[in-house]
Amino acid sequence: MRAASYDTFGGAEVLTVVERPDPPVGPDTVLVRARATSVNPVDWKIREGYLQGAYPHHLPIIPGWDVAGVVEAVGPAVRTGVEVGDEVWGYVRRDDVAFGTAAELVPAPERTVARKPAGLSFEEAASVPLAGLTAYQALTEALAIQPGERVLVHAASGGVGQFAVQIARSLGAEVIGTASAANADLVRSLGASEVLDYTAGPIGEQLAQSGGQVDAVLDLVGGEAMSDIAEQVKDTARVASVIDAEQMATIGGHYVFVRPDRDHLDALAELVDRGELKVTVAATFELDQIADAHRLSQEGSPGGKIAVRI
Ligand SMILES: NC(=O)c1ccc[n+]([C@@H]2O[C@H](COP(=O)([O-])OP(=O)(O)OC[C@H]3O[C@@H](n4cnc5c(N)ncnc54)[C@H](OP(=O)(O)O)[C@@H]3O)[C@@H](O)[C@H]2O)c1
Repeated sequence: MRAASYDTFGGAEVLTVVERPDPPVGPDTVLVRARATSVNPVDWKIREGYLQGAYPHHLPIIPGWDVAGVVEAVGPAVRTGVEVGDEVWGYVRRDDVAFGTAAELVPAPERTVARKPAGLSFEEAASVPLAGLTAYQALTEALAIQPGERVLVHAASGGVGQFAVQIARSLGAEVIGTASAANADLVRSLGASEVLDYTAGPIGEQLAQSGGQVDAVLDLVGGEAMSDIAEQVKDTARVASVIDAEQMATIGGHYVFVRPDRDHLDALAELVDRGELKVTVAATFELDQIADAHRLSQEGSPGGKIAVRI
């Protein structure tokens, strides 16, 4: 099979597309013939070697976590009902970094994949799992958003933020997003009632001019964006961050680390089916162009998801 791969940590230039042996189908594995994957910021962070202390890495590494494709084979112990020929999507995470999803064949642990919503293309579907699950788990578990609450989503124009705005709206919240001025219309079109420009001064001060502190904050940025968190939210116990675990421990908030979850994928699929979750694919690359896809992600302002066709 063909796969993107790198055998040394470094810049996007370490990525090549190579022939690798087809992966065997383990007992708990769903082998997926991938039609698309997507690129998330964690992909370039791993490629640069920044996360080597966090999980075991085994070079050469096939990058990528998201997949959409067709089931090619099912391991003998799989009991989740997926069958050869089914279209699936998934956030294919293992504890070891080695077998990613930027490959023609993806061995996915059965807990990581579910039926893909029929209304999404493979490129759209591959753009959802990691980012969509992050937003869903932060809003429904860590923050337990209730109807009528005012929720601030930082980086509302990004891959996770776009899903977070729509999911918070589906939970009945009023959503305020932060984004650059260039992306304000995009964030409004997803359902935010207000968009604050993060380059126009501290967010706490901007909120004081319009409605005051919010009920809950989802942080997808960290650093400066969170320096005045006490002015942004009524109670810092209602803050969730995917960035800064230490700050969350200090203020009594919640650090969120996304996890594969079939039920949550099904919940996202329901939102898609009901027309409440749309996917903005900002750019689509071919597998051979994966280095360019990583470069776009690393620049930090893709304006939506980055899909890779396989
Ligand atoms: N812990 C976890 O499980 C987990 C899971 C998923 C993601 N993450 C992390 O979450 C972060 C966001 O991921 P993503 O996929 O959404 O990234 P992305 O698609 O690259 O989006 C990044 C966004 O950040 C915005 N931004 C930059 N500086 C900002 C600031 N000071 N205030 C507000 N917005 C700002 C940009 O907005 P403009 O383009 O409008 O300037 C851009 O839309 C990444 O660091 C990623 O690694 C963590």
